[in-house]
Amino acid sequence: MTGLFIVFEGIDGSGKTTLCEKIHEALVSEGKKVVITQEPTHDEIGTFIRDGIVKDISQKAEALLFVADRAVHTDRISAWVDANLIVLCDRYFASTIAYQSVPLNDSALDWDWLLALNKPVTRKPDITFLLDIDVDKSMKRVHARGEKGKFENIEYQRNVRLNYLKLAKQFDFTIVNADRDLDEIAKEVLKEIKEKI
Ligand code: TYD
Repeated sequence: MTGLFIVFEGIDGSGKTTLCEKIHEALVSEGKKVVITQEPTHDEIGTFIRDGIVKDISQKAEALLFVADRAVHTDRISAWVDANLIVLCDRYFASTIAYQSVPLNDSALDWDWLLALNKPVTRKPDITFLLDIDVDKSMKRVHARGEKGKFENIEYQRNVRLNYLKLAKQFDFTIVNADRDLDEIAKEVLKEIKEKI
């Protein structure tokens, strides 16, 4: 078996983390060697960002931190893929473009600048699944979890969703209708992953 790099993207409350865990479980139960990982990571830079998200930090500095976290993460991802593991990654470069290019406090970061920053620190995923869902529905899930992070307001998330759909076209993501039963979504996603194994 050769390694695979699979990415899951989506707005907050799209269900990607739960889906990632379910896919992990399914592949492990079939004896596959799988690693599950996420961004922001839980390493030094990722931990700093997770604190930074609730504290005050400039948008440019924050974007550079997301990218720095990714640069370290990509080296680890490449080592796993080269060791023939299946890597399931919850968020990758598209998150930075989709989120950081949306105006926050009256200014937005430039789409092309964000893409250029990411280019040298990313590895091309074998598949990127975009979990697409109506923002009213995803925000209900977020509110039910009691989360209220900096990016979790409805107008912001609407723009993030539009950005993701634009990125999906540009980078050939697989768009998955996330407003369905988890088992149904997992079945569809697993089918596509297995075609690549
Ligand atoms: P999230 O996937 O919600 O992590 P967790 O569920 O573990 O808290 O990510 C945290 C937030 O960070 C989310 O609102 C999206 C945002 N984010 C960006 O704005 N840019 C990025 O590059 C990444 C990776 C995440």
